[in-house]
Amino acid sequence: MITQTDKPIQQANSTLQKVVTYYEDTGLDYGEWSKEFNMHFGYYRLWMNPFKREPMLEEMNRQVFNHLKLNEDDKVIYDLGCGLAAPCRSFIKKCPNKKIKGITIVNWQVEKAKELNNAVGLDSSIELILGDYTELPFADNSADALYALESCCHTKGLDKAPFVNEMMRVLKPGKRFVIVDGFIKKEPESFGALLGYCYKEICKGWALPSFPHIGLFTGAIKKFGGEKIQVKDFSFRIAPTAMQSPFAVVWFLIKKLFQGEKLNPVRLGHLKSCLLGFVLGMHRRSFAYCLITGIKK
Ligand SMILES: C[S@@+](CC[C@H](N)C(=O)[O-])C[C@H]1O[C@@H](n2cnc3c(N)ncnc32)[C@H](O)[C@@H]1O
Repeated sequence: MITQTDKPIQQANSTLQKVVTYYEDTGLDYGEWSKEFNMHFGYYRLWMNPFKREPMLEEMNRQVFNHLKLNEDDKVIYDLGCGLAAPCRSFIKKCPNKKIKGITIVNWQVEKAKELNNAVGLDSSIELILGDYTELPFADNSADALYALESCCHTKGLDKAPFVNEMMRVLKPGKRFVIVDGFIKKEPESFGALLGYCYKEICKGWALPSFPHIGLFTGAIKKFGGEKIQVKDFSFRIAPTAMQSPFAVVWFLIKKLFQGEKLNPVRLGHLKSCLLGFVLGMHRRSFAYCLITGIKK
């Protein structure tokens, strides 16, 4: 199922255009990271094999759904920034009686995700929408739950206010949201030379105006009507998949070299960010990977 919002992507501003270009160019490269097209880090649980990536990526999806704490009567869930809808597919496989609406700003992702959903017979439970999560084509108070997995970082502002405002508008009162992303704990201007360089290059390579700032982001949630906010630091949980990232990059480059494929600057920038991301992740006083949950008043 595909729905298209009224706002054509051509009218999108330059921040959006950078995001669209980034995902159009790197789209299939994510298939090297995850055969299911999960476009995020994985969650490590005790006794998991830390070298097997896909189960940890799926476990991150499971963590998101568990934290949504859905009831029987919670039927409609929004995925804000759904990528190739891997989290939607995981979710519907576990809860076939729910409906999920995934929105992404990238047309190519909508088409490809539809193919992937069709291939496993999940097309009727997952609606894919081409649109902007800062101007959601959904009515006020219409979601029984919603989540954003490594996607809100793509919008403007350290507090990501345009995203938070929209997410709170469409969520029903008393219902729950889950956000998972990398968060900075200090203003980027206070970073030292090495960290400042890595931060700037990572933002450029991954098409991020900035990472969200944990204090400002939770402040925006409160401002727009959120309460009972809980922040869980997942930094150590994602360490095994984060540590695989540099090796995955090197392996990918070797493969492309042998295939004689030339990578354009967007794809190279993405790979550079994957390498530098490791440096950012080590600066525990400045950066954390967190799950944030709460409810709308
Ligand atoms: C790193 S991917 C994560 C995808 C998915 N959540 C997952 O974990 O597999 C980020 C996603 O956010 C989407 N995105 C970024 N900015 C957006 C916006 N303004 N509106 C809608 N989607 C957006 C991108 O198109 C992409 O699908």
